[in-house]
Amino acid sequence: MATQSTEQNSGPGKLSLHKDEKGLLYTKLNTGAVLPAIGYGVGGVSWSRSGDAKAKKLEECIEVAVRSGCRHIDTAAIYGTEPQVGNAVAKLIKEGVVTREELFITTKLWHERHGRENVRPALLESLAKLNMDYVDLYLVHTPFSTVPLHETWEGMEEIHMEGLAKAIGISNFSLKKLGDLLPRVSIRPAVHQIEVHPGWRNDDLISHAHANGIVPTAYFPLGGARPEFEKLWENETVKQIAQKVSKNPGQVLLRWGLQHGCVVLPTSENPERIKGNLDVADWSLSEEDYDALCRISPQKKRITFQNMLSDNGPFKSFDDLWDEKLEKVNGRM
Ligand SMILES: NC(=O)c1ccc[n+]([C@@H]2O[C@H](COP(=O)([O-])OP(=O)(O)OC[C@H]3O[C@@H](n4cnc5c(N)ncnc54)[C@H](OP(=O)(O)O)[C@@H]3O)[C@@H](O)[C@H]2O)c1
Repeated sequence: MATQSTEQNSGPGKLSLHKDEKGLLYTKLNTGAVLPAIGYGVGGVSWSRSGDAKAKKLEECIEVAVRSGCRHIDTAAIYGTEPQVGNAVAKLIKEGVVTREELFITTKLWHERHGRENVRPALLESLAKLNMDYVDLYLVHTPFSTVPLHETWEGMEEIHMEGLAKAIGISNFSLKKLGDLLPRVSIRPAVHQIEVHPGWRNDDLISHAHANGIVPTAYFPLGGARPEFEKLWENETVKQIAQKVSKNPGQVLLRWGLQHGCVVLPTSENPERIKGNLDVADWSLSEEDYDALCRISPQKKRITFQNMLSDNGPFKSFDDLWDEKLEKVNGRM
């Protein structure tokens, strides 16, 4: 692939970004594979719909994303969206829009399927739903399980060696859990998918990933879609910067994510926003604007997995689950 190196960034770790001859912004995994830097997440789409209407809308959104140049799709077994990803991808390939090799497809192992011997059957189920022979990336979706994480990771290494997942990685791990796991692995994770946006900068995990040759990918790069969350794109600082740089607030948040050292995984149900969210490669935020976004307060984690807590254990508190506080004092850490 002919490439051209691009730009800087000023976050807690440098994401090495490049552009190919078609203008696709990408970074490289520790496997050598190309990871497109702006993905399309299918975890948050169409919550307002159900059944066939949801499935149809999802497939349309994926099509819009790929036809607009997106080459990276993030799904998971627990989202229930693998069949729609499979249908949309099959249609796009059949119509000659894209080849399978040009796409980067991620899916994830849910924590109820942890354990070395459970990984392969879980991935085979996902592959059947996706109607694919392999995924580009398979992630351990969460570490919230009583099965020792290194045992599950052995199963991940096996499916990677078998070629069912071109790369393997993790999501929602803490520094403590990484400290336990990494000395025991034969194959290092290629990706760590974590919550990252200006309201939860996650500097320590991003620094850790870069220091260990792991690419951090940002979920909730726009602050997340749930109604109970403050809409980050309506934040005054975000809006003012958007006006100043003549971009929309969502684009400012995504550009911040890239400069913060992460691949970004936004979701939208809106065709114009799906296209616009890909237009964050050819401009950058000034150091001043980047810093202003870093100072957004409070620093509060939005995804908590509260349903995992139980007085009977094994996770009795958020501290047990995440090994850290869910809220931090504002300011650069
Ligand atoms: N690993 C994990 O545990 C985990 C957890 C959560 C999510 N994820 C992944 O991360 C992906 C993203 O998460 P998410 O969808 O919840 O959060 P998100 O992408 O941060 O936010 C989506 C919300 O942003 C709005 N939006 C999109 N573009 C916009 C723009 N340019 N300006 C203003 N608003 C905009 C969308 O509304 P419209 O649809 O109206 O545009 C939607 O309400 C998921 O799809 C999933 O793949 C992973």
